[in-house]
Formats: sequence, structure tokens, C-alpha cells
Amino acid sequence: MIYLDSAATSLHRPREVIRAVCEAMEQLGNPGRGAYEASLQAARTVFRARTELSRLFGMKDPSRVVFTANVTEALNLAISSLFGAGSHVITTCLEHNSVLRPLYRQEARGASLTILPCDEKGRLRYDLLEQAVGPQTKGIVCTHASNLTGNLVDIRRIGQFCREHGLLFVVDAAQTAGIFPIDMEKDKIDVLCFTGHKGLLGPQGTGGLCVREGIDLESLCVGGSGVQSYRKDQPPQMPEHLEAGTVNVHGIAGLLAAVKWLEHTGVPEIHRREAELMQRFYQRIRQIEGVTVYGDLEDTPPENRAPVTALNIGTLSSDEVCDELAQEYGIAVRGGAHCAPLMHQALGTEEQGAVRFSFSYFNTEEEIDCAVRAVREIAAAETETPV
Ligand code: ALA
Repeated sequence: MIYLDSAATSLHRPREVIRAVCEAMEQLGNPGRGAYEASLQAARTVFRARTELSRLFGMKDPSRVVFTANVTEALNLAISSLFGAGSHVITTCLEHNSVLRPLYRQEARGASLTILPCDEKGRLRYDLLEQAVGPQTKGIVCTHASNLTGNLVDIRRIGQFCREHGLLFVVDAAQTAGIFPIDMEKDKIDVLCFTGHKGLLGPQGTGGLCVREGIDLESLCVGGSGVQSYRKDQPPQMPEHLEAGTVNVHGIAGLLAAVKWLEHTGVPEIHRREAELMQRFYQRIRQIEGVTVYGDLEDTPPENRAPVTALNIGTLSSDEVCDELAQEYGIAVRGGAHCAPLMHQALGTEEQGAVRFSFSYFNTEEEIDCAVRAVREIAAAETETPV
């Protein structure tokens, strides 16, 4: 199989990650719950993972890296804590449902929402930001990159805007953590939500949020913390305040190995390679008759985009194209709506969906060329089909 669906999950990952998960399953106990070696070793592993992630994301205090099951949980935690009834929140039409649905839920509970639109290439309308701010505006929640088009949001610009206007800034880094450098200090991010299993190359079931000092969040659930067991409420100290129950130590061990591998290989090098593969694909499919490509690929250099190319072939349904790619060519990509309803509305692809190719450091030029051939053949058959 040629795997070109890394925006969904990283199927190919370093051997070190798989080894670390297996070793953790054999050796690690419950962190913070015992004074024997297996428990201590688990606690060290989890602490090292917090430390590596805080370094990766430019945050000083590792205890403010909180683990969750995925980025969706992290976003739910941040959004439900920060944007209660009466507050106004700004977001964008590039968002995934993991941002939109928690925001819609807060809207139903009395918050209000402004969704910044984009242009016909899916580029955010920054010019409308200023007028979206009102007296009740409490913050901006936005993705770092569209999971559909790969268009990047300039988080440094929005972070600066938030700082100037006294707004909280929550970033969904689902598509960029491990691919783009992110610095909470320089980008002025208050809460950074990440997943472990995409660009960070860790296991599924890992993710979390980095919470800037001075930002207080309320946990989604309360329960065992391993400390202060006689309190009736969740202990106030981080990370226990936001982590009830046993964390996913086995997954976190894999994530730790993945982040070490990323640091050794270098995020800029990974990004350079993925941009190169994306560009190779785009340059070869852009002239194929019947192919429509979405997003800002012409005007933005590949290094300023997430490694994604979304397209359609004629009027074929994207799901049909995905099935053909899988069945006839052994190529794995994602079609349909990608949990990004507003982006599809903006691009006019609600009915057709889009066929999303997404690239990883581990793909080869040969795989890209096979995918190009497949698109060319499907497009040729479609344009030849008598109507
Ligand atoms: N959110 C993931 C994607 O975009 C699953 O495919």
C-alpha cells in the first residue's frame, strides 16, 4: 500500500516508537502511585515526555504539559473552561469539528461566536479580524493549518493581535505539531492543543495541551490523582489538576521516543522533506485536465503550507475516487468531508467532498509518482466517459 493519509494518522513511524511502546507494556507500572521501580520508572517516563514536549513547544514549565487521549479532548477542555456563558469567541472557517463542535456547544450554553471567513482559495480574511472584536470578546480559537487544504494560519500574527487586544489565544496544532516549529512564547499562545499520532509520530490515544502560566482551566473529569487523596476536589497543582485517572503511560512512552526522534532528525528537515514531496505531487497534477486543486498552492511557497493537497477529478464523487485509488492502485487517501464542514462550504465542495493526499517524511518520490499516474489515469477515463 502507498500511504498518503498522514493528515489522518502517521501510519509509518520510527521503529524506536514501536519498541518504546512494547517495552513500556512490559516494564512500566502506574506513575505516581507507588515507590517501587516499575512505578518510579513510569513516572520518570511521563515526566521526560512532558519535558521534551515543553522544550519542543517553547514552554518553560513541563508540569503545565497535560496529557489527554487526543487533541479533541484537549480542545474540549480548553474551550469549555475558557469560554462560558456571556463570553464572545472568534474562530475561523478553516476549523475542524474538534474546534467547531465544542464552540457550538458553548454557544448553546450562552456564549457567542464569530466565524472569520476565508477567500475562494481558503485563505483566512485577516482584514476582518479587527472588526470581529467587541467588548465581550474573550479570545480566539483557531487551527494552525486547515486539515483540508493545508493552508496555514499565521499564528504569530494572531498571537500578537490577541496580546494587543487582551484576548486569550487557543491554538489547534493537530496538523502542524512536529511538522512546523511552534513556540508558545514567540507565538504568544495561551493554550496549545496537540495530538500525538500525526506529525509527532507517536501512538494514537496520545495528545494534550500546554497551558501558559496564569491560565486556569477546569478539568473535564475529576478522580484519582495519586496525591492529596483526602481532598474532596481535584488537587490544584498541575498537571494533576487536569489529569484525573491513570494516564496512557504506554502511549506516552511511545510519544517520548517519537519526540526524541523528531529532535534528532530536526523538525525543519522533516518539514523540508514533506514540502518537497507535496510540491512534486502538485507540480505534476496541476495541469491534468479535469483536476481541480483546492487551497493556496500557487501563491504560497510549499514550505509555508501543511503537506496536504486536496483535489477533485471532474464531477466524480471524492469517495468514489478514494475507493478506486485504494482498490485499483493500492493508494490510501481520505475523501468526503474531513470533519471540516465550513471549509467545504467555502470551497463549494459540500456535495462532492474532496480527495485529500497528505504526505509524510517516510514517503518516497516513487510513491508520489505512482499517485500522479493514478490521478492521471482516473482523470483520463473520466474525461473520455461519454455523457
Ligand atoms: N482529523 C483527521 C483528518 O483530518 C482525522 O483526517
